[in-house]
Amino acid sequence: MPSYEIAVIPGDGIGPEVIREALRALDALAPRFGFTARTKSYPFGAEHYLKTKEILPPGAFDDLGAAQALLLGAVGDPRVPHGPLEQGLLLAIRFRFDQYLNIRPARTWPKAPIPVNIPEEAEIDILVVRENTEDFYMNLGGVVQAGKARADIPIERGLYKGAAKVEVSLDPPAEGAFTLGLLTSPATLRVAHKAFALAEGRGERVLHCATKSNALPHLYGFWDRTVAEAAVSHPEVKLRPINVDNLAYQLSRSPQNYGLILCPNLFGDIVSDLAAGVTGGLGLAASANIGEGLSMFEPVHGSAPDIAGTGKANPLAAILSVSLMLGHLGEKDAALALEEAVGLYLNKSPRGLLPYELNGGAACSKVGDLVVQAVEGRL
Ligand code: IPM
Ligand code: MG
Repeated sequence: MPSYEIAVIPGDGIGPEVIREALRALDALAPRFGFTARTKSYPFGAEHYLKTKEILPPGAFDDLGAAQALLLGAVGDPRVPHGPLEQGLLLAIRFRFDQYLNIRPARTWPKAPIPVNIPEEAEIDILVVRENTEDFYMNLGGVVQAGKARADIPIERGLYKGAAKVEVSLDPPAEGAFTLGLLTSPATLRVAHKAFALAEGRGERVLHCATKSNALPHLYGFWDRTVAEAAVSHPEVKLRPINVDNLAYQLSRSPQNYGLILCPNLFGDIVSDLAAGVTGGLGLAASANIGEGLSMFEPVHGSAPDIAGTGKANPLAAILSVSLMLGHLGEKDAALALEEAVGLYLNKSPRGLLPYELNGGAACSKVGDLVVQAVEGRL
């Protein structure tokens, strides 16, 4: 019987609440699909940081890397300034394990109202594929003081190491700041090939590629050319570059016209929230961060400190992240069964049993119960 070691970082705010329900769904699936999943929980997040002054202790990457998958709740806490936790934990894990492929599905679900008027019979089924290691997320930046900046910033990624040396001088002097975006061909090609393969798997005829080469020709002109190079080996899918501002407009009006959308890192961050917003909302938005080694699965939503502890969190995004995790582990039937269980639960539930986010009245743990019942064929 296959056995999986799953590292779990419940994290902050509603993270532990939604992860608890996600793990219950995992436990319910294991005996039905003939696998075992052993979970090991790590306390990393705001509380740990405030107590110990460290975000990830030495050895944490080795511990996490021994698992076959990592499930993350959410990080972020009003007691900690924005930035260090996100960078030292979430982004650090993505970069350390070279999780270059970020997959973010956004689809219509039964009972989940959508804020856009689409034709009655139309459905939305978007897959945002986000490059997850480069672009403006290289963190190559600094401040300009009295018109001068001089920086020598080390670069370390799975694909390469190096440095960025930057000199800025402004006359007359001004205060400021800068961030360099960097894209490379191996990183762009690998994510583009994956995106085309995913599009082929979904039977898509078109792959939209979000860009902004009209305004930022160096960075995104390179992206466009490199994605076009990858497209040559995937003749059955047509590459359609689209400026990201236009894409945002189109998605807010006719999201049903979009399927697979490939984005560089920063646009992918924004476009995936937009895609979640025009479908069932962040409470249904799951994501996968895939690398050759450890991959990480997490709801797209944050730690929502305002509703933490109230029972109002919607665990479906975390539960659907478990579905993505099972698919990645090769448990395709279990993955599909969990996705179907979520659909069945939503379909069958009267309003009072829907998550608060969907204007219902079911607490986080109640939603978890109902999904488990659906998994077990008891709904
Ligand atoms: C996301 C988040 C992160 C990102 C933040 C928390 C750093 O918004 O996963 O989409 O920008 O990637
Ligand atoms: Mg985001």
